[in-house]
Amino acid sequence: MKDLFDKIYKDKGPLGKWASQAEGYFVFPKLEGQISNRMKFQGKEVITWSINDYLGLANHPEVRKTDAEAGTAYGSAYPMGARMMSGHTDLHEKLQNELADFVSKEAAYLLNFGYQGMVSTIDALVSKDDIIVYDVDAHACIIDGVRLHMGKRFTYKHNDVESLEKNLERATKMAEQTGGGILVISEGVFGMRGEQGRLKEIVALKEKYNFRFLVDDAHGFGTLGKTGAGAGEEQGVQDGIDVYFATFAKSLASTGAFIAADQEIIDYLKYNLRSQMFAKSLQMQLVVGALKRLEMLKTMPELKNKLWENVNALQSGLRERGFDLGTTQSCVTPVYLKGSIPEAMALVKDLRENYGIFCSIVVYPVIPKGLILLRMIPTATHTMEDINETLEAFSAIRERLENGTYKRLSAAVAAAMEQ
Ligand SMILES: Cc1ncc(COP(=O)(O)O)c(C=O)c1O
Repeated sequence: MKDLFDKIYKDKGPLGKWASQAEGYFVFPKLEGQISNRMKFQGKEVITWSINDYLGLANHPEVRKTDAEAGTAYGSAYPMGARMMSGHTDLHEKLQNELADFVSKEAAYLLNFGYQGMVSTIDALVSKDDIIVYDVDAHACIIDGVRLHMGKRFTYKHNDVESLEKNLERATKMAEQTGGGILVISEGVFGMRGEQGRLKEIVALKEKYNFRFLVDDAHGFGTLGKTGAGAGEEQGVQDGIDVYFATFAKSLASTGAFIAADQEIIDYLKYNLRSQMFAKSLQMQLVVGALKRLEMLKTMPELKNKLWENVNALQSGLRERGFDLGTTQSCVTPVYLKGSIPEAMALVKDLRENYGIFCSIVVYPVIPKGLILLRMIPTATHTMEDINETLEAFSAIRERLENGTYKRLSAAVAAAMEQ
């Protein structure tokens, strides 16, 4: 009989197999210093393009002050226990009410983490007779939530409304047999490619099909829409979203998340969300911090304006230089390149070492094989100087990519890897 660990000794997994070449540099890098547009990597200053601190709140003096004061007042333990048992407070309720109000829903409920919360939300919304129809490029938290589902599920082609409709037809027939309902899931903004989910078209399908719509708006919340209420507001269809989800881990630069929906749905989820029923309540420092950040989001539109000024300058500058940014419709700025993983490593190393630019590299299995994605996240803290320096650097790396420099450099890396 095999030892359970045999497979682990042999195969480290699609990302883990790169660990010896990549760890500490391409993955698990240590960025040091205050969270901002410029941080330190291995002792050298780098322009950071890989932190989801969209509005620049992470290190804002008012936010830091509130976090510190809340830490002093409550420590990191309070409140103890799950919300249902002993971890419920007025401030948790206040934050929920303010979040619900902000995203134009009747009620909201806090989640300790976005990832877990989404898994649990999907789990709580469906029973075995129900059918889930979701975008094939959905975030891992959606995929993992669907994995818990005991009934049928269909994927539709990424952001393809025709494909969604075909699957809705199949799902409708099936639901008529099982006696269940249909849950459609999309992201508000797809975090890798930056496209907005086609929420308007999906909501329009409600005229023809009977389904409920869950949207993960992790990247839209705070960045899109007139008030920053997200992709639903941006597309004018917030009302058509039945369950709205966002995390605090991006625009609010913190930890935690929430779902918002009609009161009766939230009342149900409150008693059925296993991630919250069987886990300690969101700690008070985070609740107080989120209240402060939400207030700033609401009262300081200049933060979102500055963010978009930077997004537009970076994206148009890259496009002018011939870089392929795909079809992004958000702050997420993906730069697509064709090449092997070793080539990508040589390129990123050049950017980091010779130009002081830190951006994340995304490779298979997160994106298709043979593609390299340099994923850049502009924030309100970036300056025109950061952007211009970065554009210059990208022009230089583009030249080297085209003249085969990285191919040559990567051949040496590849040879080393084969040994
Ligand atoms: C689309 C999307 N959903 C959910 C999450 C998970 O949020 P959290 O970091 O709060 O667990 C993320 C964050 O990485 C995300 O990008």
